[in-house]
Amino acid sequence: MEFVIHEMVERDLSQVLDLWRLVKIELTYSDKHEELVRMLKHNPGLCLVMKDTVKNKILGAVLGGYDGRRGWIHHLAIHSSIQGMKYGTILMNEIIRRFKERNVVKLKIEILKSNIGVIDFYKKIGWNIRDDLSTMSLSLKE
Ligand SMILES: CC(C)(COP(=O)(O)OP(=O)(O)OC[C@H]1O[C@@H](n2cnc3c(N)ncnc32)[C@H](O)[C@@H]1OP(=O)(O)O)[C@@H](O)C(=O)NCCC(=O)NCCS
Repeated sequence: MEFVIHEMVERDLSQVLDLWRLVKIELTYSDKHEELVRMLKHNPGLCLVMKDTVKNKILGAVLGGYDGRRGWIHHLAIHSSIQGMKYGTILMNEIIRRFKERNVVKLKIEILKSNIGVIDFYKKIGWNIRDDLSTMSLSLKE
């Protein structure tokens, strides 16, 4: 596949949301159009799409967020038709390169227990499980 990786922009969002639905990424309030636009504005150069340049179609996507201390990876997705062909690794390498360029010292990701198999993917590209941590959250929206 001939592809480019470029920064995700607002006009990419409908294709990106289709891709996330296809690969069963759990979508929440934070994936509403306006919320995603806010994410893109807040994290210039860290939210990426992988585009098939022949079909002019988005086949990969990932959101990167920097909170001033840690970098966060959200919603990494590669189209089902090209999974297992290293495109996920390539897209992760690019987002990691961009975080490094910004001197970010550590990246974090949350993985749903229902998607536990994907841990093998992250292990293969060098990530470690932190079994000394539990994730908690507090919803600030009704
Ligand atoms: C996870 C995902 C992004 C990986 O992208 P990919 O292009 O298929 O992965 P790669 O081809 O780069 O895989 C690299 C290695 O990880 C392994 N791997 C990839 N996905 C895996 C999975 N779900 N479970 C176990 N191993 C996996 C591959 O077999 C490969 O192993 P190898 O180096 O021994 O050949 C992609 O499968 C996907 O979009 N999945 C659905 C959405 C999802 O779960 N996203 C993660 C949210 S946390």
